[in-house]
Amino acid sequence: MPADFDTIVNLAKKRGFVFQSSEIYGGLRSAYDYGPLGAALLRNVKDQWWRSMVQLRDNVVGLDSAILQSPEVWVASGHVASFSDPLVECTNCNTRSRLDKLDDPEQCPSCGMRGKFTDPKLFNLMFRTHMGPVESEENVVYLRPETAQGIFINFENVRRTARLTLPFGIAQIGKSFRNEITPGQFVFRTREFEQMEMEFFCAPDESQQWFEYWLDERRSWYLDLGMTADNLRLRPHGKDELSHYSSGTSDVEYAFPWGWDELEGIANRSDFDLKAHADRSGKDLRYFDQPNNERFYPHVIEPAAGATRTTFAFLIDAYAEEIVNEDTRVVLRLDPRLSPVKAAVLPLSKKPELMEISAPLADRLRHRWEIEHDVTQAIGRRYRRQDEIGTPFCVTVDFDTLEDQAVTVRDRDTMAQDRVSLDKVEEYLAERLPA
Ligand code: GAP
Repeated sequence: MPADFDTIVNLAKKRGFVFQSSEIYGGLRSAYDYGPLGAALLRNVKDQWWRSMVQLRDNVVGLDSAILQSPEVWVASGHVASFSDPLVECTNCNTRSRLDKLDDPEQCPSCGMRGKFTDPKLFNLMFRTHMGPVESEENVVYLRPETAQGIFINFENVRRTARLTLPFGIAQIGKSFRNEITPGQFVFRTREFEQMEMEFFCAPDESQQWFEYWLDERRSWYLDLGMTADNLRLRPHGKDELSHYSSGTSDVEYAFPWGWDELEGIANRSDFDLKAHADRSGKDLRYFDQPNNERFYPHVIEPAAGATRTTFAFLIDAYAEEIVNEDTRVVLRLDPRLSPVKAAVLPLSKKPELMEISAPLADRLRHRWEIEHDVTQAIGRRYRRQDEIGTPFCVTVDFDTLEDQAVTVRDRDTMAQDRVSLDKVEEYLAERLPA
């Protein structure tokens, strides 16, 4: 069973994973700031995605394109015309809702009145602003609603400079913005969020095979990072759900506390985007296949994940409570690769003779891992805090250390303790902390 929603939100706030944006001004709805632990967890999720999608592959390269792009991009991509959700407003309480997300299309989810909705209006989700000092229609630009288009418009630049031949992928991580009608469920649906997207270009007749390959790869990525298999599923889209560009999509879904919901969409975008940009820009974006001496538009398989949403899911999935010595122990069983802190160095007390050993030890370990040197409170409370933030190892310097030059290393999950010689701590951790 997934953890209770409020428990996770409270933990995230209490331990400094996530704060409400602009809290001192009463908060800005649907915007969040990632605190020290949240920023580290989010970065670790993104690093693991990059490692698996770019670093470990011979045929995938990275990109970091601009958030602001020519407005022509969004006309060509279809976003100006059709990146919209149906909006209805309740004439009784003025609440706005997304019609396609309502359980009952006649009933207001806020006041419960039936039959009080206005006619649905299509509401474009792109944030508009102006480039430069003049606020005119000619100066309109959009905050990108997906990172994908930055990849398509750079297809030829990247292919040429990285000397790529099909099949190959271009990957990108970055912020996207959508003026969602109904943001909610904490960081699950926000108006500013981060995506991790990869466009995989292939020969048209190989697209189905690559689609299946990427479904498998992406599902395995979550499982490899410790996500519970029963909480993860692949769900193919029905024909009526497909986006304007897609000829086939499956979602990776997670069993969130409110039910199954999307973590990632894996879409067969066919040649929709390259063709659309070639048509609008007048540039030839076809691929030249030298061995067969022919030009064609590659087809595209796109695994598109949400970094912020996935981070939230890993947090939920890792949360566990267990009874230890008649007390409840809260432990985040995060995969060590995702843990914000890899090891905590804890002197048993603040006595100078212990600190003289623990502080240099922490400094030494810091060169390789994220380390906390925590000297406050009783040792039991410090263990509890480290369990709650998912730290895989606690390294305790006690009075015996002065005699035997060894420390106690405690494992988060088993709570087993090993006595490790001071000069072997690095080796001990390196064997247990994967890259
Ligand atoms: N380029 C394709 C694309 O953007 P999408 O399904 O709209 O596809 C991909 O978005 C992923 O981005 C989603 O699966 C989700 O994880 C994340 N995402 C989309 N909208 C989001 C929002 N408002 N807040 C947080 N994450 C969001």
